[in-house]
Amino acid sequence: MLIGADWVEAASGRRFEARNPATGTLLATLPEGDAEDVDRAVAAARAALDGSWSKAKPDERQAALLRLADLVDTNYDELAWLDTLDMGGPISRTRLGRKRMVGLLRFYAGQATALTGETIENSVPGAVLTFTAREPVGVVGAIIPWNAPLGMSVLKVGPALATGCAIVLKPAEDASLSPLRFAELVLEAGVPPGVVNVVTGFGRTAGAAIAAHPGIDKVAFTGSHVTGQEIVRLSAANLKRLSLELGGKSANIVFADADLDAAVPGAAMAAFANSGQVCSAGTRLFVERSIYDDVVARVAAFGAALKVGDGADPQTQLGPLISARQLERVASYLDIGAAEGAHAVSGGARLTDGAYAKGFYVPPTVFSGVEDRMRIAQEEIFGPVLCVIPFDGEAEVIARANASMFGLGAGVWTRDVGRALRVARAMKAGSVWANCYQLMDPAVSFGGYRMSGYGRESGARHLDEYLSTKSVWINAG
Ligand code: NAI
Ligand code: MG
Repeated sequence: MLIGADWVEAASGRRFEARNPATGTLLATLPEGDAEDVDRAVAAARAALDGSWSKAKPDERQAALLRLADLVDTNYDELAWLDTLDMGGPISRTRLGRKRMVGLLRFYAGQATALTGETIENSVPGAVLTFTAREPVGVVGAIIPWNAPLGMSVLKVGPALATGCAIVLKPAEDASLSPLRFAELVLEAGVPPGVVNVVTGFGRTAGAAIAAHPGIDKVAFTGSHVTGQEIVRLSAANLKRLSLELGGKSANIVFADADLDAAVPGAAMAAFANSGQVCSAGTRLFVERSIYDDVVARVAAFGAALKVGDGADPQTQLGPLISARQLERVASYLDIGAAEGAHAVSGGARLTDGAYAKGFYVPPTVFSGVEDRMRIAQEEIFGPVLCVIPFDGEAEVIARANASMFGLGAGVWTRDVGRALRVARAMKAGSVWANCYQLMDPAVSFGGYRMSGYGRESGARHLDEYLSTKSVWINAG
């Protein structure tokens, strides 16, 4: 792992394994960082912040980000393969991330020279000027999940570099390889040592040490809402700034007037992409009753036709789940759905034949006969499991779609543009997609309502999460 300029072992000397979830193959062993390593990384980050990095001009930070973007571009195939091998995402999918990764870094590069404060007309007597200065929040602790290791690293390191913060990044224990390679590229791009540090290790040890550390000013977290709540508690000692990108149970609504040739694949991939391991996956599919049976059959057929397997095969469309633990979790929901009275129209059980036995495979599963109250309709499963639920009217479906503790994404499919707009405005969710799903862009904010978290990532607002605002009063009278 990377602390300052050095690639180091954990203070304890302990290591843990990185395995390929498609095959069980051992890929590497990694230092098992813990509180002492986090201490060292925070000290390195603080020293970098107080050293030359605090004097780096916006155009220097911009140039470093642009060099990093170029390096990610040049080395992209390797980064995509690391994610395929380490977290199971099919190479057919991870390969497609180049434009987004490079684009995000170039967007943050642009933002580095676009940070502004304001001058404020005050009403105090005399010639007193007030302006605001935007300052880096300081040392950022970033804790990321395994479902998009490279993308999450970019989304944490990019804004830190743009704003002049220093960062201690803890990858997920199940997918640390691309974050480590990315950190090598950060150094190669000429970012001073200590600005970006990577501590590999487990959540309850290294992650908790970051969340509680008095020398860390802000935590940027992506992961489950349960761990998010724990981070809020742990961060209270020094009242860290927090941004939390948490889970979801996003509603996707198909009206009878929709173009089903677009809505069916759209709704299927909203739930099945990345084997369902997407925070904003559209896992509650509400379908107008007159087309319910038709859509259930077509979505199930679409899912059943997807090629599930080892992501290293370029033909593979859906890879394995990340781990035995996640397989167990998803499989338990398949049982819960059956016990609650839902019907698995396709999928419904783990794949174990032949080569599947070596990995953690669940086929795309479509449940019909789902009722709102069921656990499979309320809880985040994080596997390729789609619950299809009938509805009768617009006002009714809006209320039911919003009856969730989460609020990350929402989708609506209709040819009626007025209805699309009404539903989009009514959804209690941070992103709403009409006649599309999961579109993202570096310039557009992403984040949650309710228990899907707070704070926004990507877009110009993202930088606010990494900045403090200081009001300065100058009595010039
Ligand atoms: P998690 O939220 O526990 O893990 C995410 C990150 O948090 C990892 O780096 C982990 O090491 C760290 N972490 C864990 N416990 C921590 C603690 N006490 N203090 C500080 N950091 C800690 O997610 P996990 O356990 O891998 O997956 C469980 C479920 O969480 C999934 O089934 C899924 O429903 C949800 N999840 C949601 C994600 C999202 O993007 N919405 C991403 C990953 C998981
Ligand atoms: Mg792995």
